[in-house]
Amino acid sequence: MAGLFVTLEGGDGSGKTTQAALLEAWLVERGETVVRTREPGGTDLGLELRQIVLHRKGHIAPRAEALLYAADRAHHVATLVRPALERDEIVLQDRYIDSSVAYQGAGRVLGADEVRELSLWAAEGLLPDLTILLDLDVRLGRSRLDVARTEYDRLEAEKDDFHSRVRQAYLDLAAAEPTRFLVLDASQSVDTIAASIRARVAELRG
Ligand code: TYD
Repeated sequence: MAGLFVTLEGGDGSGKTTQAALLEAWLVERGETVVRTREPGGTDLGLELRQIVLHRKGHIAPRAEALLYAADRAHHVATLVRPALERDEIVLQDRYIDSSVAYQGAGRVLGADEVRELSLWAAEGLLPDLTILLDLDVRLGRSRLDVARTEYDRLEAEKDDFHSRVRQAYLDLAAAEPTRFLVLDASQSVDTIAASIRARVAELRG
C-alpha cells in the first residue's frame, strides 16, 4: 500500500499530542496531505464507543473492553485510515494496536498474544510503517497530567503499578520490532524529540 502510517504511543502525559501537532505542521509545510486521527474515537461510531469505554461508570469485563477497542479500530481502519493510505496520504495517529496490547494486556487477565491477534483481525492485518514510542517514567507522566486534569478517565485512574506494567509492555513490544519502533526518551525537550521524529520520518518519506 502507498501512503505512510505513523502511530504515536506512550503513557499518560508523555507528550504524544504535542509531538503529533508539531509533526503535522512540518509535513504540511513539505506539501504532504496529513490525516491526523486517534483511537479510540477517530470516527462518529468511534466517539460513541470512546464514551463507553473511557467514561462509562461501573465495571466492564476485560474481554468486553478489548472488544470495544477492537470495534472502534475495525471501523476506523476500514472507513478512514486505509482509504487515506490508498490516496497516498500520511496518517498520523494517536494510539493503535500497541495501546491495546500494552493496556488490555497489563490488566493481567488477557495475554499480549491474544490481544494482538484480536486487534490484527479487527484491522485486517494493517500495521504502522513507524511507531513512535514516547517513553517516560510513570510518576513524571502522572505529574504532568495532574497539572492539566481535574478528572481521570477509567484508565488514567488505574494505580501506578498498572501504568508501570503498561510502560514495560511497550518497551517489550519495541524490542521485539526494532524496525517499526522509534523509542524516544520523553523527558527530553519538546524540540529535541520533534527533531528525532522528523529525521526518522524524512528517511521513510524522503
Ligand atoms: P486518550 O484521551 O487518548 O489519552 P491520552 O491522552 O493518554 O492518549 O485516552 C485513551 C485511553 O485509552 C488511554 O488511557 C489508553 C486507553 N486505550 C486502551 O486501553 N486500549 C486501546 O486500544 C487504546 C487505543 C487506548
